[in-house]
Amino acid sequence: MVQVSQLAVPQAAPLIPRLDRIAYGGDYNPEQWPEEVWAEDAALMREAGVNLVSVGIFSWAMLEPTPGRYEFGWLDRLLDLMHAHGIAVDLATPTAAPPPWFLRAFPDARPWTREGTPLGGGARQTFCPSSPHYGAAAAGITSELGRRYADHPAVVLWHSHNEYGGANALCYCPVSAAAFREWLITKYQTLEALNAAWGTTFWSQRYSDWEEIAPPIVAPTAVNPAQELDFYRFSSDAHLANFRRERDLLHTLSPGIPVTTNFMLANCKNIDYWTWAAEVDVISNDHYLQAERPDNHIELAMCADLTRSVAGGTPWLLMEHSTGSVNWQPRNIAKKPGEMVRNSLAHLARGADGIMFFQWRASRIGAEKFHSAMLPHGGTDTRIWRDVVSLGASLSALQPVRGTAVTADAAMLWDWESWWALELPWRPSSELTFRERQEAFYEALWRRHVTVDFARPSADLSKYPLVIAPASYLLTASAAANLREYVAGGGTLVVSYFSGIVDENDAVHPGAYPGALRDVLGLRVEEFLPLHAGEAVALDSGMVGDVWAERLQLDGATVLASYVDGPAAGLPAITSHAYGEGRAIYVSTRLTGESLDAFTAGLGLPARDLPAGVEVVRRGDYTIVLNHTDADVSVPGSFASELITGSAVDGNAVVPAGEVRVLHAGA
Ligand code: GAL
Repeated sequence: MVQVSQLAVPQAAPLIPRLDRIAYGGDYNPEQWPEEVWAEDAALMREAGVNLVSVGIFSWAMLEPTPGRYEFGWLDRLLDLMHAHGIAVDLATPTAAPPPWFLRAFPDARPWTREGTPLGGGARQTFCPSSPHYGAAAAGITSELGRRYADHPAVVLWHSHNEYGGANALCYCPVSAAAFREWLITKYQTLEALNAAWGTTFWSQRYSDWEEIAPPIVAPTAVNPAQELDFYRFSSDAHLANFRRERDLLHTLSPGIPVTTNFMLANCKNIDYWTWAAEVDVISNDHYLQAERPDNHIELAMCADLTRSVAGGTPWLLMEHSTGSVNWQPRNIAKKPGEMVRNSLAHLARGADGIMFFQWRASRIGAEKFHSAMLPHGGTDTRIWRDVVSLGASLSALQPVRGTAVTADAAMLWDWESWWALELPWRPSSELTFRERQEAFYEALWRRHVTVDFARPSADLSKYPLVIAPASYLLTASAAANLREYVAGGGTLVVSYFSGIVDENDAVHPGAYPGALRDVLGLRVEEFLPLHAGEAVALDSGMVGDVWAERLQLDGATVLASYVDGPAAGLPAITSHAYGEGRAIYVSTRLTGESLDAFTAGLGLPARDLPAGVEVVRRGDYTIVLNHTDADVSVPGSFASELITGSAVDGNAVVPAGEVRVLHAGA
């Protein structure tokens, strides 16, 4: 019997108030095509069940061909056409790709690399996020669009920019340097405070004038890690300021139409999306499969769960994914039959109330012409097109799922600050990476058919029976207090190695490691013992670790497993500490694959009797089962109906190989 877990979030309001269906569609770039093609586009969109398109994302040069001269005629006609066909529009501000005239007029608005190279045009995202010229130009086109289309009946959503924090996430130009100093003055007020926070007594870095401070450009050695961290924070905030400017203009000019911007959750290191989440009206995300990875659907699930979590458990919009191959990976492997539909419905299972693609019609020209689309170069007599039409029909059958909440069994901590800090130079091992640990634990839970929420370390965790803290190297004292309270209140906390080591300034928490978590874990880490490349260490539990070991001294914790060999032979490797009403488990080596599976098997998670490769998510009253295997599977339960096929089910359900079923206990 597939268990229903307890952690339901209340049903949410509609994602896009003026769209009463699951959104379906994609980026639509009509400016790349003669207008004669648009009528065919509209007709084919209807055929596929498309009801929402993102328009104008890269249209700045077509909308404002020279500074202050606007050409909206084509967009007027396009929006009218969409509306006449009942297709809603997610209208973009085109500010991710400033036109050539902008770069010519304002060469100092180009972004600079860390090496000090100004980046050129002929591309996109060629702008410095802190440039006042960019800000003024972006505000100009945003205001014109907001004024003109505020009341257009097709427009149901504003799409600010595109993927803030993409290629120009970190800009090191002189304009950014000045803005960084301003940001630091606001944060620290006094140079004394900055010098203290950055620990500038080290290596003679003490600042006596704000003007001495620069972004962390390439330097002879590692740069001050606290400076690096503040530069990440500043950069995320600089992009956020650009978003806020557009959002505020649109809210004023176009009240009642929500504003989104497409995030790149789990794959964008540079933007602190926890901070951004509260700023957008609709959380939307772009996700592209890592095509060559065999289990890439697990990574997809992780990104979708993170998106839902950033959305506070409420529905969200998958703004972009691909119908087939992309064009920017080393080998752009095509999706197998059924894979695109499974990908789409996996996002839906994990809380998406809209499934969108990049892009509607494949480009003939430009850098992305070999990227798949809903309508391929080959037209409608293609497998991809048939799948697109069939997905549209499935989504229309899935309307009852819209607005329902996903239930999760456990939480994992995810913190961009820890990601930034862990991967700065001069760490004890170059093999300490954030995403690797997140994915490893996530995958182990996925293989147990467990659904995960992500949480920031300061979040209220009390509803979760289990919280895993992978790669939590940077942990503030207050976040650590939050974890302590969680455990004291009865929770089970799992902490992976090299966690709780430093504070927000990358300063080691006082005393023995891990200063932030010593008491709750009931141990001290006396010494880090990074392993040689490829070296493995055996544990007496039969598990095997690599990359890392530690010399632990217990201070109340009990031993769950010890090292058999390696630099910590005979010493504890995995421990458990009863603390208050709960317990805190510590894993001092890198467990992967079967070892991590064996470890997670002991965590008391719900046991779900399902074959490997079968994904199950509970959303509202629906049990969504995705069969990633080549064999039909029987899912035990007391199901009465299935939404996609519209058929009756008699208790147990069969999910055919490669397919998805949305099961319900009622008729
Ligand atoms: C996204 C981007 C789209 C398109 C797509 C291709 O990151 O937002 O505009 O370039 O990648 O996969």
